[in-house]
Amino acid sequence: MVQIKSLEEYLKTYTRSVEQPELFWSEIAEQFDWIQKWDKTFESDMIKAEFKWFRNAKLNITSNCIDRHLDNKSDQTALLFVPNSPDEAAQKITYKELSLMVNRMANTLKDLGVSKGDRVCIYLPMIPELAAAVLACARIGAIHSVVFAGFSSTAVAARINDSSSKVMITSDGGYRGNKTIDLKGIVNDALKSCDSVESVLTIKRTGQETVMIEGRDYWYEDISKNLSDECEPEIMDAEDPLFILYTSGSTGKPKGMLHSTGGYMVYTGFTFKNVFQYESGDIYWCTADIGWITGHSYILYGPLLNGATTVMFEGVPSYPDFGRFWEIIEKYKVNQFYTAPTAIRSLAKESLEWVEKYDLSSIKVLGSVGEPINEEAWHWYDEHIGKRNCPIVDTWWQTETGGIMISPIPHVTPTKPTYATLPLPGIQPVLLDEQHKEITVNPAQGSLCIKHAWPSMARTIWGDHQRYIDTYFSAYKGYYFTGDGALRDDAGYYRITGRMDDVIIVSGHNLGTAPIEDAINEHPAVAESAIIGFPHDIKGNALYGFVILKESGTDRNQDELRIEINKMISDHIGPIAKLDKIQFVSGLPKTRSGKIMRRILRKIGEGDLSNFGDISTLLNPEIVEEIIEGRL
Ligand code: PRX
Repeated sequence: MVQIKSLEEYLKTYTRSVEQPELFWSEIAEQFDWIQKWDKTFESDMIKAEFKWFRNAKLNITSNCIDRHLDNKSDQTALLFVPNSPDEAAQKITYKELSLMVNRMANTLKDLGVSKGDRVCIYLPMIPELAAAVLACARIGAIHSVVFAGFSSTAVAARINDSSSKVMITSDGGYRGNKTIDLKGIVNDALKSCDSVESVLTIKRTGQETVMIEGRDYWYEDISKNLSDECEPEIMDAEDPLFILYTSGSTGKPKGMLHSTGGYMVYTGFTFKNVFQYESGDIYWCTADIGWITGHSYILYGPLLNGATTVMFEGVPSYPDFGRFWEIIEKYKVNQFYTAPTAIRSLAKESLEWVEKYDLSSIKVLGSVGEPINEEAWHWYDEHIGKRNCPIVDTWWQTETGGIMISPIPHVTPTKPTYATLPLPGIQPVLLDEQHKEITVNPAQGSLCIKHAWPSMARTIWGDHQRYIDTYFSAYKGYYFTGDGALRDDAGYYRITGRMDDVIIVSGHNLGTAPIEDAINEHPAVAESAIIGFPHDIKGNALYGFVILKESGTDRNQDELRIEINKMISDHIGPIAKLDKIQFVSGLPKTRSGKIMRRILRKIGEGDLSNFGDISTLLNPEIVEEIIEGRL
């Protein structure tokens, strides 16, 4: 794999990638195994949002993730599974073993009638079968739709129905810290409102009792045992869909981002190698969950495409104690460690003794992803984990981008706290001003857009191409709009300042305000609600809800109502979307056209009561005073 080793080489490569993108990407793509090569590197229409990469090429991504390593790496660990409980032994799954697992799972899916193009919904804890399930789908050309195992049954049902998944893969339960989660029970509930699912493949993990429905639900170990562990890879077109992954949007309906095969493979493989400077024999650990894009691209596909050893951790950073991450790093001699600012902040507030107990000298590169990393967390990470000796790669990207877009390259790009620094080769970020003009001077601040197509961009929103165009390609004609605001300093370094839309990032999770408000409004005592984010030391942002009660709700006990409202959110979305503060109000600040003026609520939530700007357009300016008085 092409590996950039110096700043000079980066600058040369970057210039070339912009001036000759066809040549640049085709050389990178040459490093993978193709059944048939492309006749054109790419076609791009930024107005209609139509993109093709590696036109007419044929491949199977699992041949690249697994089979191509079987000649010389078959006994090397591919997946290093670290269970939730430190008392349960870790499992080293070699490339050979992974191949057998994936092929057996692929044959099981075929046995259940899954074929190319069918959707398979995967709702599993972080166990090796999750990796096998994802890759098994890719093996046979089925489209995987992984749903994070913290989502509620209503959220799971919405995702199954949107994608019309035919088969569901889940487990009896899952371990998370000292909790056991009833995953199969949640699936059973979800499936009450889903017609498309014909079979449920159930993995045994916790051994807990679960209701199995005859003719629909199967134990994986039973139905797979007589099936072969050899399965020919399906021949896929480079543009055939690989997966759907849902992300929050500004309406209640989640957006099923659709990624395709060839471009995604080339980009995740290339960026993994460069951003983590992975060398053969290194142990790489990304602490994300495979239910998010970070897990798809940088626990599974990117590392496996490079023949890496990738750690899969089932547990949480605080169980059985706050030393868990550091213990794992010491024990397995982790070389690259990739986590989220929220995890860094939560561990930084605990005693340093948890860190100092362990030898972290194996670490070469530290990564951060998912939200802006604040200066304090950056320095703590640098000083106490990296011992001022490991570059921090602050990687900016999105579910929609498929892979890392802006990031330092270790030992190549000088780092700067809180800055994601420079774009990776082939990526052309720009800042646009309010007149939709590109800002060409530095320093600058504006809307972060991308000017040129790249291989791993999402191709559409499943079943709704117009929404894809409207969300990403309409605000600034001819550009992909990221939804983020950014600063650019004199050196051209980017610093992401945060979302510009109604998405709030809480503990690194993307949460749309609309679905949460919809869930709250389902409560019989609630008339209307509005959610905003406010700064939180650990989560980055926490949620603050302003709720108008119906007449019938006004004599209810407010604390009880708060509990019920949070339960409502938990049931509809999942515990990650619960509110930290709920204030009952008699009205919300609205414009004459009926739009809630969130800017005012945000200021109140942040405790900044100094200047509300122009509130003359409000229909009900008197409400502002009432809300300030009742502020929590
Ligand atoms: O606002 C940016 C923030 O996370 C958003 C994307 O969220 P999601 O699709 O869930 O993907 C997260 C993992 C790639 C972005 O629009 N974000 C992500 N990484 C960073 C970031 N904000 C600042 N700095 C980052 N490094």
